[in-house]
Amino acid sequence: MKAPVRVAVTGAAGQISYSLLFRIASGEMLGKDQPVILQLLEITPALEALKGVAMELEDCAFPLLAGIVQSDDATVAFKDAEYALLVGARPRGPGMERKDLLEANAAIFSAQGKALNDVASRNVKVLVVGNPANTNALIAQRNAPDLDPRNFTAMTRLDHNRALSQLANKTESSVNDITHMTIWGNHSSTQYPDLHQAKVSGESAMDKVAQDWYESDFIPTVQQRGAAIIKARGASSAASAANAAIDHMRDWALGTADGDWTSMGVYSDGSYGIQEGLIYSFPCTCKNGDWEIVQGVDINEFSRGKMTATEQELAEERDAVAHLLP
Ligand code: NAD
Ligand code: LMR
Repeated sequence: MKAPVRVAVTGAAGQISYSLLFRIASGEMLGKDQPVILQLLEITPALEALKGVAMELEDCAFPLLAGIVQSDDATVAFKDAEYALLVGARPRGPGMERKDLLEANAAIFSAQGKALNDVASRNVKVLVVGNPANTNALIAQRNAPDLDPRNFTAMTRLDHNRALSQLANKTESSVNDITHMTIWGNHSSTQYPDLHQAKVSGESAMDKVAQDWYESDFIPTVQQRGAAIIKARGASSAASAANAAIDHMRDWALGTADGDWTSMGVYSDGSYGIQEGLIYSFPCTCKNGDWEIVQGVDINEFSRGKMTATEQELAEERDAVAHLLP
């Protein structure tokens, strides 16, 4: 058995965490041979609820769960963390865009970036789930100057998974048959789900669907799926978000499937002409615990327009929180 690793999760008494923690503790994120110590962060008024979640975790008697830390102090929860899942933030309600949360949530991520900088493992892998996820990840990263900016990522895996299911349904295939899906840009309604590289059973997805379905149905459905769930469920997606967080971290830690890629919001190095320093979703492969942006993807005029629109939105969000970016 390997030595336990410390996994910090914020917003640990919230609805996403109620799905997420049990799956991390059962080994679905880091493997069935990797014990974990869960380091759970909540705000003070939620510590009692957190205690209940911790009791339930104990009651599962997970063989891989080597310890539980509960705290309202980020420097306790992030101490020596190798993985940090930043979930704790306010969710949006009906009629809101995710960027409407920027003011409410941005301060959380500057404080948590500083705490990660001070106490986390120098290799900590950070996934920001709390919305607006890309810009919150940027804020955390810029407040952690001693950590590699590549350690900070934002979750667009839920969008990626949504796109896989929509395409599988349309082409009457299985998600297992689909490869090379890409989400570009922001986890917002400007994101660009791109089918130009996607393959269904090894054949071009674009040859299997009509352009009109792609533009008028697929793209808006994926872009608006979060809002559709809020409308239907009366609360934002939780189990599917937790599932995507598991997928994102598992692939980052253990590697993406051979011959395929995934979508991750990562630090832009200027690839595809996207402004350096934005946290932008790109097609990525992961190997040996590191991610890499896939190079050489063909970008046509249609795609370029969509990629630029979502880049512009991210630049605007960045400018709106300039006071939090040292
Ligand atoms: P929730 O309200 O059920 O839970 C959030 C929890 O965070 C609460 O328990 C709250 O007490 C806690 N919290 C608030 N401030 C905190 C802080 N400073 N430190 C630690 N904990 C804090 O919300 P939820 O449904 O679990 O969603 C959490 C976030 O995830 C929201 O911002 C939501 O919009 C976002 N989200 C993102 C994606 C994505 O794909 N990136 C998907 C779904 C939801
Ligand atoms: C989602 O995509 O489901 C989440 O980001 C929640 C939301 O506000 O849409």
